[in-house]
Amino acid sequence: MAIDKKLAVRCEHQQPNLGEAALDMAALYRHIVGRNRFLPIPKDEERFVGDGDFRAIGAEFLELFIRYGGLRPEWDVLDFGCGIGRMALPLTQYLDPTARYVGVDVNRRGIQWCKRRISRVYENFAFHFIDYENALYNPGGKKKPWDTEIPFEKGSFDFIFATSVFTHLNRQEAKAFISQLAGLLRPGGRFFATFFLIDEMAVRSMQEGRSRLVFRIQSGMNSTEAEALPSGSAVAFNKSWIEVILAGNGLQMLGEPLRGTWPGLTEGGTYQDLVVAEKPGLDRR
Ligand SMILES: C[S@@+](CC[C@H](N)C(=O)[O-])C[C@H]1O[C@@H](n2cnc3c(N)ncnc32)[C@H](O)[C@@H]1O
Repeated sequence: MAIDKKLAVRCEHQQPNLGEAALDMAALYRHIVGRNRFLPIPKDEERFVGDGDFRAIGAEFLELFIRYGGLRPEWDVLDFGCGIGRMALPLTQYLDPTARYVGVDVNRRGIQWCKRRISRVYENFAFHFIDYENALYNPGGKKKPWDTEIPFEKGSFDFIFATSVFTHLNRQEAKAFISQLAGLLRPGGRFFATFFLIDEMAVRSMQEGRSRLVFRIQSGMNSTEAEALPSGSAVAFNKSWIEVILAGNGLQMLGEPLRGTWPGLTEGGTYQDLVVAEKPGLDRR
């Protein structure tokens, strides 16, 4: 089986926490799920989680979870905003049967599909609908994150991730959910999330016309939306504001964010920016 050595070498310097073996494992698992024809995928008309190759994006993120997040097969995982199983499906091939995976989302159809197609086969994979309001995905939702907590025991997950979820939340929601998710992590647990992060580099890219997304920029703002897109389609946060919110919730960033390609970068991890942070208390390396 061909392992993507080039990729492992390219990324090596960016995540000093992981050894060579973990890097090879990441590429190996991506290879396995990328080619596994037996994993179900939702029909085109059932998908609501964005464009692109459903299976390839899942495989790409499995690799990022392992390579940058240090995800291990025995860890208990919470997938915040799990959609229609794009990340859960590859994880069925990686997590141990004794590890617990929980996916939560505000979209009922996605949760139903995941229960039917994933939980029936993989008993350690559970999916729950949560009724938070979201203008795009659950406009009739009855809850707000500052009123109602995600219903799991504090300190019960080793790895909590959110792919392309904070990019649809406003500033108050992002702040409240980061605080909740930090509380659900065990000491030594990791938070892995994608964002659109605004800093000098991103502003310059937008001004010079290189960025694939253009956000409305005003001085002193902590969040902003993309121009020419419906509200909630693409929300960006000031990079230093996110750093402050993470630190305020006891989460320590593991290095600088891995910058995405959205601001026109040709080198980068994935489309969105990627943040990995740890709740101190236990050295898992
Ligand atoms: C672009 S999709 C990404 C889905 C999934 N994470 C993936 O990468 O395939 C955004 C997801 O965030 C979910 N979402 C939005 N607001 C949420 C909230 N407050 N709590 C949980 N999920 C939310 C949406 O329902 C949708 O499934």
